Amino acid sequence: MTALRKPASTSAPIHDIISHRWSPRAFDSRPVEPEKLRSLLEAARWAASSYNGQPWFFIVATKDDPENFQRVLDCFVEFNKNWARHAPVIGLSAASLKFAHNGQPNRHAFHDVGQAAATLALQATALGLQIHQMAGIDPEKARKTFGVPQDHEVVAGIALGYPGDPASLPDQLRERELASRERKPLASFVFTGQWGNTSPLVKP
Ligand SMILES: Cc1cc2nc3c(=O)[nH]c(=O)nc-3n(C[C@H](O)[C@H](O)[C@H](O)COP(=O)(O)O)c2cc1C
Repeated sequence: MTALRKPASTSAPIHDIISHRWSPRAFDSRPVEPEKLRSLLEAARWAASSYNGQPWFFIVATKDDPENFQRVLDCFVEFNKNWARHAPVIGLSAASLKFAHNGQPNRHAFHDVGQAAATLALQATALGLQIHQMAGIDPEKARKTFGVPQDHEVVAGIALGYPGDPASLPDQLRERELASRERKPLASFVFTGQWGNTSPLVKP
């Protein structure tokens, strides 16, 4: 089976790795090589962060550790459980909400966890893998299950692996899997001078 590819249709040239990243729900059952997983996490490690606070944490479980895999899966909402249970690797991201150097609140903690996740995602694409992030989780269940400290917050779920056969999905999800990827036009979110005033840089 050749993996489904869903390159972005862009209004300016971008790097192949960026255009080929996408969020599948069908994953191949093939396990992810541990050295590749380590590369993904290493990529996350090198994300930029406010004050270099590196507020990211990842709880990871692979299919060959069924007990921990189930504990992570149980933190996903039903909709996500249904497809993510077939991924060979699942996980949760978490943020430290205070700076380690002074104990002050880190207003950019979620931002920086997002940056680490994005970096991880791009490394995944570079290695032929894809990740699918999820807001549909139960963060308090995850806190209790994994003993996440009070000054930390669980941010998102992650499923990852080699993209699989869309035919393995139920009808509705298969349609979404095969649908083209959509984005707002640049002109709708890049401003100059005043909120809402489209920058000439991106005028169509
Ligand atoms: C923080 C975050 C939360 C998301 N939550 C879910 C989710 O709970 N379930 C789901 O199926 N997809 C979820 N997605 C996937 C998005 O729907 C997807 O990234 C978006 O439609 C763009 O598609 P693309 O990643 O293929 O470009 C989430 C993505 C992100 C970044």
